[in-house]
Amino acid sequence: MKNSYTHDNNGNELYHAIDDKVRKVNYADLYEETPEEWTPSSEDISCELQLLGLGDWEPLNFNFSEKEWEDNQKSIEHFYTTFQPREGILNDRQSVLLYGLEGDHPSRPTGLDQIRRELGYMPLEEEFKYPTEAQKLLTSYHDVFDYFGDMGRSFVIKLNAGGFYPYHRDFPFITRNTIRLIGFHGKSSQDQLEWEVAGQRQPIIPNTLYYVNTMKRHRLSSWKHNSDMVVLNVPKTWKNVLKIMSVLNGG
Ligand SMILES: [Fe+2]
Repeated sequence: MKNSYTHDNNGNELYHAIDDKVRKVNYADLYEETPEEWTPSSEDISCELQLLGLGDWEPLNFNFSEKEWEDNQKSIEHFYTTFQPREGILNDRQSVLLYGLEGDHPSRPTGLDQIRRELGYMPLEEEFKYPTEAQKLLTSYHDVFDYFGDMGRSFVIKLNAGGFYPYHRDFPFITRNTIRLIGFHGKSSQDQLEWEVAGQRQPIIPNTLYYVNTMKRHRLSSWKHNSDMVVLNVPKTWKNVLKIMSVLNGG
């Protein structure tokens, strides 16, 4: 049997993400270099203030069929590949890419740190706008894709027992170009998947898509297999914020 630290479930050698220490950035220095890029626009401020007013963890009114999700899983299961492995750490996370760079395969490495190592630079979330073969097969999300139109980097992620994300913030600056929607499917439930955002354990309604404020510090861990999630990057525009407001659970 292959070593899990170095090979994925299919026996392929793992492609490790770049070391965290390289990633630390100084926002004040970045601002000095390109102030226009690091100064929030009025649309940034409008969108972020409105989203803050809604909450950090907001369920949306999309209906998902459990049966369709299970059928979709059968169609995409051969695409699953290890998500962003790091040297010396066991972390059972498997992903399938839904929207990527032009020509991307659903099994392409999905994590930004891996992609940065591969390309030598970090592409923007919204550059991953091309649907992969798996996007077409994930029919249970076609209503969501149709509703928002353009999407950024998006993927299905399956956390098995022991799969986790340590504390992090996705992009902590209000100039972020995309916002995160996260759907919970498969066996994802309170019993086996823990999500903490801003110091609080969050409730998980199965088969539900949420707006999640991933600027705030968060972490998650799965105690059992098949905690399935869909991670969507939606372009942060005032129109998309209004679209989110139009499908809020609870009005
Ligand atoms: Fe995150």
